[in-house]
Amino acid sequence: MADKIQRTLAMIKPDGIDKWPQIEKMILDEGFTIVDRRRLRLTRQEAEEFYAEHQEKSFFPDLVTYMTSGEVMAFILAREDAVSQWRRLLGPTKVSTARRQDPASIRAVFGDPAFDTRNVAHGSDSLVSAAREVKFFFPDLTLEPVLTGEGAKEY
Ligand code: TYD
Ligand code: MG
Repeated sequence: MADKIQRTLAMIKPDGIDKWPQIEKMILDEGFTIVDRRRLRLTRQEAEEFYAEHQEKSFFPDLVTYMTSGEVMAFILAREDAVSQWRRLLGPTKVSTARRQDPASIRAVFGDPAFDTRNVAHGSDSLVSAAREVKFFFPDLTLEPVLTGEGAKEY
């Protein structure tokens, strides 16, 4: 049975933005379709909203400062199993772990282990998160649900 087509939200973070052409090439080489993309700088309030699930964590203030330190590039990506396949290509959250466990991943290749949690890029962690995060960056875009077998609807 073919895997289901999904969409996910990918974002190149401020420390990765200069590498966007190389990262975009990896995205396309891995068989993702870029449905849309935009480059912007997040305000503090937007970064706090995007990462609201982490607002009680001790790293939250540093995370917001990092995410507002420069421009980001947000992408809507589509392919089979887009959510987990993009997380796989990203690699583990911490750059040092990524270098150890998955040296070909984006976080390992482009991240600086001296800044372990400035990790180059983001990926939605579920279809529910993907729907929320796509809406966050592309509020005016109307996307048809992805139809998979038996008339089922996937985001
Ligand atoms: P998280 O959602 O746990 O990781 P991921 O980006 O892999 O989904 O955390 C969100 C971001 O918060 C993460 O990319 C980097 C930052 N972060 C820290 O600064 N310190 C930490 O200990 C963790 C877990 C995350
Ligand atoms: Mg996460």
